[in-house]
Amino acid sequence: MCGIVGYIGSREVSSVLVDGLKRLEYRGYDSCGVAIIDEGKPRIIRSVGRIGRLEEKIKDTNPTKGSVKCGIGHTRWATHGRPSETNSHPHRDCTGRFYVAHNGIIENYLYLKHRLIAQGHKFTTETDTEVLPHLIEVYYDGDLEQAVRRAVRDVEGVYGIVVVSTEGTGQKIVAARNGPPLVVGVGSGENFVASDVPALLPYTREVVFLNDGEIAVIGSDGVQIKNSRGECMCRPAETITWTADMAEKEGYAHFMLKEIHEQPRAIRDTLRGCIGADATIALGAELGDAEILDRFDRLHILAMGTSLNAAHVGKFLIESIARVPTEVENASEFRYRDPIVGPKSLVIGISQSGETADTLAAMKEARDKGAFLLSICNVVGSQAARQSDAVLYTHAGPEIGVASTKAFTTQLTALYLLALKLAEARHTLPKHEIERHVRRLRDLPDQISKILDQGQGIAALADRFWRYRNFLYLGRGIHYPIAMEGALKLKEVSYIHAEGYPAGEMKHGPIALIDAEMPVFVLAPQDAVYRKTMGNMEEVKVRDGIVIAVATEGDHEIAEKADYTIYIPQADPLINPMLSTIPLQLFAYHIALLRGCDVDKPRNLAKSVTVE
Ligand code: F6R
Repeated sequence: MCGIVGYIGSREVSSVLVDGLKRLEYRGYDSCGVAIIDEGKPRIIRSVGRIGRLEEKIKDTNPTKGSVKCGIGHTRWATHGRPSETNSHPHRDCTGRFYVAHNGIIENYLYLKHRLIAQGHKFTTETDTEVLPHLIEVYYDGDLEQAVRRAVRDVEGVYGIVVVSTEGTGQKIVAARNGPPLVVGVGSGENFVASDVPALLPYTREVVFLNDGEIAVIGSDGVQIKNSRGECMCRPAETITWTADMAEKEGYAHFMLKEIHEQPRAIRDTLRGCIGADATIALGAELGDAEILDRFDRLHILAMGTSLNAAHVGKFLIESIARVPTEVENASEFRYRDPIVGPKSLVIGISQSGETADTLAAMKEARDKGAFLLSICNVVGSQAARQSDAVLYTHAGPEIGVASTKAFTTQLTALYLLALKLAEARHTLPKHEIERHVRRLRDLPDQISKILDQGQGIAALADRFWRYRNFLYLGRGIHYPIAMEGALKLKEVSYIHAEGYPAGEMKHGPIALIDAEMPVFVLAPQDAVYRKTMGNMEEVKVRDGIVIAVATEGDHEIAEKADYTIYIPQADPLINPMLSTIPLQLFAYHIALLRGCDVDKPRNLAKSVTVE
């Protein structure tokens, strides 16, 4: 939600900022802007819409002259103040000496705004952010870092900010964080700051993640990280394993398509290092001790959106393999009902980004009540990872498409591994059974590749259906969350109304919607509930609904009854969800493409939802 970049060094600063913003555009894309300080003079360029428009405007300006070039940039997902050039960041104080780009929400901004107006400050935007440059103006007495420190003390809410100023001799960027992430990129004779690692990858892989309450003072020749008391925190840079190529489209038309196709690789990488030669499960030192895993009497999984759908599949996996009672909670609801968790609870937060405000807040609530916190997360060093007792990383690589795909299937892989680890520790499965599960997981990437080979068939199916206005997705048992995920993918990227239901629930209401205008995806791979799902499919057919079945290869019976059938390879019932989700992702992608939607950046969405 909003992307921030900052650069100081000898490169042409506008190019670095625009390049960084493009790489962060998935975080927000309703307006954008840069503030560049060149030989003590400010240059502010802002635009509504996508970064491309800002780039066009920048092309019409002269290159910077100073030897050290310094600037900040921002891509916005509006919260306070509608998307407009005036409301786009960076924002300035009354004197034009201080410029701020902000990600987050200043909750007490109205109080601060009225106080500042009473002191004579003039506001020009509808944003909450604008209070920050004015506060910095009030507190500035020759030291920008001190002014920022004092300004953020007045603020209630969450923020990741970068600040530049025309004041003082040495140029610098001051960055401060409380909530939304900021990561400093360490270069040679140049330094960077950004909301997320992909913006830094073309320049450096040496990074320092800012912690809450910290302030970074970034010059071209060094970076100082300080805590809220102003004490230096000597933290060595970490080396990121992601490469710049991983955040490129690599010949695919869209990130979403690339990321769908990356799933075999991403799952292999997630499995790598977690399975020993003798099929022992190794999930890191914190989860290595069987006694730890045996001490929990209940699991809670907290997540939002696609990660929440993964959590629902995880419940099936964990209860079936490890026999531990597991509750799945929508993280945004969790902390508002005084949840019953304690030292005997293992609480798992699932988050691709590790930044989702609701998930983080729910995890904190669980931790405050004494629970052991495990995060399943894709972004190394993210807030979720850092606030957890243990982390299970999904090695999906950067996910840029706003609609989550490879993060989902790698989350399912991680949950499967966790279920096996719990089974190992709690002796709920004999060794040979665990080995059997491990073999199935190892076969999974090749099975997904086989489904990806059917891409053209799924594109043809999308061609048949792209004009329909409503879709139903039905699944039973472990396929109910996959029905939810299929519907979520379709609505996100194509703006078609779609609902996922447990197949058995259909008779209790949704069946009233069935007619010849209602295509229904029926997820019916062969498993224990196959016959029941077939029954629900018949109920759709006799009411003229159009059935698209997702079924197990070789199932000719279903093909005779359904209008269209997509096959997935034969697999164990617990592996099936990771397979049946692939055609649903491809279908949503192709429908969105045919409808002319912006597949990678669907309207109103942002990749990381850092506000509640
Ligand atoms: C859907 C999607 C979102 C995210 C949700 C949680 O395609 O991407 O629903 O899954 O916002 O995000 P993370 O996993 O980063 O916590």
